[in-house]
Order: sequence, then C-alpha cells, then structure tokens
Amino acid sequence: MKRTFITIINLVFINICVIAQSHKTAPVSALDKKVDALIAKMTLEEKVGQMTEVTLDVVSKSNTSPHQLDADKLKEAIMKYHVGSILNVSGFAYDRKHWYEVISDIQKAADQDRLKIPVIYGIDAIHGVTYTLGSTLFPQEIAMAATFNRDIAQKAGEITAYETRASYIPWNYSPVLDLGKSPLWPRIYETFGEDPYLVKTMGASIIKGYQGNDVGDKYHVAACMKHYLGYSYPLSGKDRTPAWIPDRYMREYFLPPFAEAVKAGAKTLMINSGEINGVPIHASKYMLTDVLRGELHFTGVVVTDWRDIQYLHDRHHIAATQKDAVMIAVNAGVDMSMVPYDYTFYTYLVELAKEGKVPMSRINEAVHRILKVKYEVGLFERPVGNPDDYPKFGSNEFRNVSLQAATEAITLLKNNNNILPLKKNMKVLVTGPTANTMRSLDGGWSYNWQGDLSDKLAVGKNTILKAIEQKIGKENVTYRPGSAYDSVLNIEETISAAKNADVIVLCLGELSYTENVGNIDDLSLPAAQTQLALELAKTGKPVILVLAEGRPRIVTEAESHSAATLMTYLSGNEGGDALANILFGDANPSGKLPVTYPRYTNSLNNYYRKNLENGNPDDKHGYNPLYEFGYGLSYTSFGYSNLRISKPDLKDGESLTVTVDVKNTGQLEGKESVLLYTSQLYASISPDFKRLRAYDKITLKPGEVKTVTFKITPTDLAFVNDVNKTVTEGGEFKILIGDQVVNFKYINSLVPSRTGRL
Ligand code: BGC
Repeated sequence: MKRTFITIINLVFINICVIAQSHKTAPVSALDKKVDALIAKMTLEEKVGQMTEVTLDVVSKSNTSPHQLDADKLKEAIMKYHVGSILNVSGFAYDRKHWYEVISDIQKAADQDRLKIPVIYGIDAIHGVTYTLGSTLFPQEIAMAATFNRDIAQKAGEITAYETRASYIPWNYSPVLDLGKSPLWPRIYETFGEDPYLVKTMGASIIKGYQGNDVGDKYHVAACMKHYLGYSYPLSGKDRTPAWIPDRYMREYFLPPFAEAVKAGAKTLMINSGEINGVPIHASKYMLTDVLRGELHFTGVVVTDWRDIQYLHDRHHIAATQKDAVMIAVNAGVDMSMVPYDYTFYTYLVELAKEGKVPMSRINEAVHRILKVKYEVGLFERPVGNPDDYPKFGSNEFRNVSLQAATEAITLLKNNNNILPLKKNMKVLVTGPTANTMRSLDGGWSYNWQGDLSDKLAVGKNTILKAIEQKIGKENVTYRPGSAYDSVLNIEETISAAKNADVIVLCLGELSYTENVGNIDDLSLPAAQTQLALELAKTGKPVILVLAEGRPRIVTEAESHSAATLMTYLSGNEGGDALANILFGDANPSGKLPVTYPRYTNSLNNYYRKNLENGNPDDKHGYNPLYEFGYGLSYTSFGYSNLRISKPDLKDGESLTVTVDVKNTGQLEGKESVLLYTSQLYASISPDFKRLRAYDKITLKPGEVKTVTFKITPTDLAFVNDVNKTVTEGGEFKILIGDQVVNFKYINSLVPSRTGRL
C-alpha cells in the first residue's frame, strides 16, 4: 500500500515536470490561444466532460429497432455531464438519413449547453465507412498491404474520409498500425502485415488520404492511429492477453509505424488494451508520455480503447479501485476515456482533481488537445455536414477503386502448368464454406462489429459463387457447399457433382470475426475443410484452391493437392468480382504476401528472422514456410537484371542510388511489386536475415523493360542496439531485389563497426 502511495506521488510529480516541460517547448499558435481562451471559461466539470466518451447506446432507447435516440438520456449526457464525445453504432449500420438525424440531434443538444461545444463523434471506418449502409467497403488492411500500392491505399483513405463525412462523422478510429507478426492473433487482418516498413508506409499513405491537406474541409476526417503500442503480439496469440516485448524490440519493430504516422500528421491515437511485461499500456507513463510525447513529439489526442481504464482494476489488477484506475491512467497521459457505458470516469476525475491527485495542468492539457482537434476538423463552424455535399457516396467511381484494390491484392500462390486462367466455357463446381458468403470477403467491422450480417446488408454485392455465375453463366456452374466452417455437409453429393465438372473451385478459410471472438486454439484449418479438400482431390479433377481468410491458417495438407492456389484475404465488397476476373483471365493478379504463410503450426517465424532461425544445413526444422513474405505470381513473368549501385561504399551523410531493370518476359501486360531488401552481414546485435527497405509497383507491357530506382541512406539501414539506441553501424551489406544481389560497405566514422570488420 505504502509503495503504491509513493509511486503515485512520484507519478504526479513526474507528470507536473513533464507538463511544465512540454508547455515550455510547444509553439503557441493562434488556434492554441483561441482554445486557451475557451478553456479559461470552463469549469472543472465542463473540462472533465470533454475528456469523457460514451457509446451511442448510453443515449439511445434500449432494444428499439430501428434505433432511436433517447432525448432524456441525451440531455443528461450533455447538460449534466458535458460529454465531449460519442462513438459507435447501436445495433448495426444505418443509412445516411438516419446518421443525419442522430448527429443533428446530438449537436442540437450540445448547442443547448452553456459553452455550446460540439460533440466529436467517432467511428471505426476501418475499411470504408463500415457502419453506413450502401458505403464503399474496401479490402481490409492485410489485403491492402498485399497490393504494395501506396497510391491505392491513399485513394481508399480519401474515399473512406469522404463517405465518413457523408455520414456526418469527422473522426475515424483507423488505421491499425499494429505489426501483424502473429498469424494466431485474431486481428492480424486489420494490420498491414508483418513488416515494419510496409506497415509504416501504407499507414502514412492512408492517413494522408483520411486527413488530406485540410482535415477541416468537408471531405476529410481526423485519423486515429491504433493501438499504441505492441498490441499485436500477445504470447498466446489470443486477443488482449499478456505480451512480453523487450524495449529494444518495441523500438525496432513496433514503434516505427507510429513514429511515421506522427510525422504524417495523424491527429489522434488509441492505446493498446493489453499489457506488456506486466505493464498495462493505459497505465504506462513511460509509453504514453515519455516515449509518445517526449520522443515522438506527438501533440494530438490520446484516447483509451474500450473500457480500458475500468479494466486496470477489473482485469489487470493494477488499480485497487476504479477511482485509482482513473488517477493512474490520466496521470500516465490519457486525454480521453472511451468509458463507454457510464459516467464513473467523469465522477472520479472531478473528485481526483479536487483532491489534488490529478493536477489541473494535466486536465487542461488534455482538454486543450481535444478542443484543438474539434476546431481543426471544423466542428465549431459545421457541427453537422450538408446532405447534398456528397453525391459520390457509394458511387461506381468509388466502387471501381475498391475493385482495383481487391484485384491488386489477390495473390496467386501456385499455378501448376498454367491451369489459370480458366476458360469461360468450362463446367465449374464451386464448393467450400467461404464460396457463398460475404462474411469471408468483408470480415469483421462490416455493417456490425463481428461482420456477421454482411450477407443481408451488403446489398447487390457478389459472393465468390455469384461472381463466377455472372462471369461464365449459371449454366456452367454447379454449387455444393461441401462443408460449413467446421463440419462437412453432404460430402458425397459434392463429390458426385465434381465428377461432372471440368474444374473445382474450392473455397476454404474463415468467416468473419474480430477481437476475442476470433481467438483460436489451433492455427490449422478445421478438419472438416481439410477432409473436403482431400475427398475432392481423389476425384482427380483439378482443384483451384481459394483461401478467403483473415489470417494464414495452416492448409499444408489440403494445399498439396491443389493445381492452383489463390489467397484472397478479406478483399471487401468487390472481392468476389475481383476473384472471378482473375480466375477467368479478365484481370492479371499482382498481389504479394504481406505476411509469411506458415507450413506448420509450430513454425511461425517472420521473414525477418535471425540467422539462427534458418537452422543448420542438415536441419530439417529451420525456416521453411509454405510461402514466403513477398511471394506472389502473375499470369505473365518478370525477369530482373542489372542491379547496380551508384558507388561501392556508402559514407555518412551520403545516399546510395540503386537501380534494377525489370522486364516483362511473358505474353500479357502485368503489374509487378519490386521489393528491395537489405541484409547486414555482421553487427553488434545479431542482424535480421533481411529487411524490406523500399518497394515500388510498376506496370509492364509484354517485352517492356523498366529501370526502377531507389535511394538508400544510412538511416534506412539503422537498427536499435543493445543500449536501445538507433544506430547504423559500419559494415558490409547486401542489397537483394528479385534474384539479384549486390554488396556494398557502409563506412561510418562516428559509429564504427563493433564487429572489428570495418
Ligand atoms: C477496439 C478498437 C475500436 C474500439 C471502438 C475496441 O474494442 O479494440 O479497435 O476502435 O473498440 O469500437
């Protein structure tokens, strides 16, 4: 008890120092002065209200369908608690008209309060505006990453922002910048994959799309990078279970995407719900203040994740009471609490401030950031948008961008004897649990939290089956489900249907899920799906295996019998059409894996493994994935040649120009993602086997050659050393692009090689 007390005193003291420090250095703009003038008029209660976020259910009539706001509850939220923010959807997606009514009523209520501060509404528009009917739903982030196309990520961000504003909402809880390192984790599909550079570059691009040049105009929204930091790598793979991540690894792999997002101007940040090395991040002043503010210089709003202050007491047991939990979290650096079901945060924080246990400076700082974002997104001038300003909502123009993203994401992993593309006059059996459901295209966060209503609400969108039927005519297609997610269905009937088909399109994988609902005890696909694959293989008919899944489930046995394999990830509302275009040759695949596809359940290494993980030459248990990160085929072929560097040695302050020629050596136009890896041969910390440092996507006509140019600087080669410093040590490096390799030396006069080689 005594120890806790001393720690708390320390926390308060350190916080005061840090706040004083940050106030000293932060530049004061005209907007800051305007915000401070407003803060000067506010009571403690009004300030704490701004820091309080509740879910829409709190101000809605319960159990009414369709959803209805409750005027009394809304009045209580605004007039009594001065609530600054409301989030989410009650039930499932609404049409634009209903959102207009909801947001207008909320802002009218806010206008009745003494200071008339508008409410900031937030939503998870994580792959398009997920909770508005008729919106454009894009591939989930994992699929977006497979495109290796930053421009399309940015475009998707712009469209999502447009459609979120068309739903009168200015704040988007996206992008997820967690590192998709663990295929077990049920939210890996919400990430841009396993590589820090890919996550960082895709993340920054989508943020630019969300926020544009002016986050306050009627087409852009404030981004919320999440979940800071280390959420994605729990030891067990299960959501919100403990992680063990040393600080060095945190900085090397998990932090760079957030640092880049701060540079890209992301306005807000959401905290990781988990605990790392026993420290819940919501209680970590080190992470929320020292690193985030002190090192990354983030100046925006920090919001908790769902109920996470309460969980400091209920789940993590680091706060003896709910009130202590509020004190610890706010003193650590939380600006806004996603409470979200009650007003306890408000009540406790008012008391804590009066008792001097949370300094007023900390509250003022948080409120300053919140009000500043409200001004920046234009809420004071335009608390609700104008319904007529969004003629492109759900348009064909937007749909085509989603279709292009899905087409560029779908990854061809095997194509024995060029069985693909198929001929349109073939007789096709379509089967498997993911063949005729939008849930396996859209995934979670689609129309509702778990995405289980997509079949009803993705109106007019094609499942894989429907898209194939449209492409080659119903008369050429037979459908038998063959299996549900984890139990076989009429397998004999499916096998006899296979006998009359020229080819089988077998769609395996997963349905929709997110968060703890998606936890699994076994990465293998359910036995029923493997059984279906094995029975179909016995028919001798060629099997085109389609993997529609949010994470790379182990499919090794089933896949060994396929003639071709395609990974569709969760490719969104247009994923069925994109796949049908690829299967029948109306589009050429160009996706590459943004994660390692494991072969075995107990071998879950990432591609940027250590040399030790490669095993010995005679060791059968070394690195041996089913498909490597960055792998993906095309219907054409590409040849790499002439990898050149501008000089043999790189010195401090210089850059190296790297060029490579890429030729389309096949018969069809195609797109190729050109990936540049580097590998340091020896370093003071065991170097990663290789690391992605740059990429570009090009289009080549048959026979065409393009020279692709990259620039590498010493900073690109840096790593976090044994004393947690980011350094680039001198030494010998390799550059790897396609099958080309070139070596160079980095000569660093300040940080000489600690390996004694240079
Ligand atoms: C998720 C967040 C999400 C929030 C609000 C939480 O359960 O972890 O990613 O933004 O809910 O819906």
